[in-house]
Amino acid sequence: MPVDVILGLQWGDEGKGKIVDFLADKYSIVCRFQGGPNAGHTLYINNKKFVLHTVPSGIFRKNVFNVIGNGVVLDPITLEKEIQNILPDIPDLFDRLLLSNKTQLIIPTHRWIDLASETAKGKEKIGSTLRGIGPCYMDKTGRNGLRVGDLFSPDWKSKYESLKEKHFQFLKQFPATEFNLAEQEKLWFDSLETLRKLKIISTEYYLHNALSKGENILAEGAQGTMLDVDHGTYPYVTSSNTITAGVCTGLGIAPSHIRKVIGIAKAYCTRVGSGPFPSELHDEVGEKLRKEGNEFGSTTGRPRRCGWLDLVQLRYAIILNGVTDLCITKIDVLNSFDEIKSVDSYHMNNQLTLEVPFNMSLIEDTLTQSFPGWNQSLAEHSSIETLPSQVGKFLNHIESYTSTQVSFLSTGPGRDELLIKR
Ligand code: GDP
Ligand code: IMO
Ligand code: MG
Repeated sequence: MPVDVILGLQWGDEGKGKIVDFLADKYSIVCRFQGGPNAGHTLYINNKKFVLHTVPSGIFRKNVFNVIGNGVVLDPITLEKEIQNILPDIPDLFDRLLLSNKTQLIIPTHRWIDLASETAKGKEKIGSTLRGIGPCYMDKTGRNGLRVGDLFSPDWKSKYESLKEKHFQFLKQFPATEFNLAEQEKLWFDSLETLRKLKIISTEYYLHNALSKGENILAEGAQGTMLDVDHGTYPYVTSSNTITAGVCTGLGIAPSHIRKVIGIAKAYCTRVGSGPFPSELHDEVGEKLRKEGNEFGSTTGRPRRCGWLDLVQLRYAIILNGVTDLCITKIDVLNSFDEIKSVDSYHMNNQLTLEVPFNMSLIEDTLTQSFPGWNQSLAEHSSIETLPSQVGKFLNHIESYTSTQVSFLSTGPGRDELLIKR
């Protein structure tokens, strides 16, 4: 009766969606526990591309139930668009998609506040996806939020209006920004029709009953560890706990149920938005990583910043999450590099350090280890053990530095382009 977890160990976009989709058929239920439509999880099903923002990545697996947990912030407009897009391929979607009655709702003025607040920050901006995530979590912790279950009370419209009024007051502190509220509100109210078609329940009891019956549950993280509101590169983070601990609060599951934690990391690093990124490359190597890895945001289309794999950062993420198994993705992106590097320590205050400091912006330099490239495609290989020795050396270094086994290696975006250590 365990809960396994898949989450990102870097700054998001590690390829979590693909791995969740691959492993989902081993589970009865897949759950999202935090974040919202700032996430973009890409899956390829029969060569067709799908990007999921709110719906868990287990939805394409027949017989698997998918839960949007209480820790998620949900925008009914994005949800409706997403459902319209995947419904032709998943006709039984409404039978298998469940929504917590405690999930917080993003309303249009949350997005307006996000826009106004980011605009006012100028050069200090977070680089938010502007999906209303931060303002919605602010209302949650400020105890003003509107939850899915509220939609079933007779006075929910007045709750909506009073929240909107609070937002108007809040917006007064920022310089004016353009936002077509009337249009967005119409979309929002119309989209509730789709939301109401989902099975809306107390998901904590549902999950507890499933665990009692011996069923397996998979929790799917969004964003990545370095975007965690407590442990990430604050203030350049998202507004939720993206780490394993967030599974417990975001689903109502006790810590003792958690078994495996599969941490996903790219074979290099990327970041979209502002904030420190010690291994970032501003040269033609970074450019090549972006091109080979097609590093453009799944949600906003923004170019992602690129750099080498940062092992100091990765080890920190492994500690925070209790990672039992590493999954290294996008190894194929390095196929044509003559030299590959990993960052093994930081230089700061005239000292070398193996720890992520309070303020990552103060890191002055990084020390790297160099590995020869393999200069060949990995497509023909069907096991980790038979890969070129150069790949083996790189993976061995990751394992020995982090004291964690690389159990999965992703060699392409397709569902089955995955090697599993036996
Ligand atoms: P997520 O947010 O963690 O689910 O990741 P995204 O979907 O935002 O970004 C990962 C991108 O890399 C997507 O375009 C995936 O299709 C793609 N991808 C995932 N795994 C691999 C891989 O092993 N190799 C390559 N080349 N692309 C991959
Ligand atoms: P997935 O689940 C990458 C980043 C934004 C910004 C910061 C705050 O696809 O890995 P927010 O919209 O939360 O206010 O943005 O976090 N960010 C992500 N970066 N992948 C994501 O999700 C992200 N979700 C948010 O770019 O820097
Ligand atoms: Mg993504």
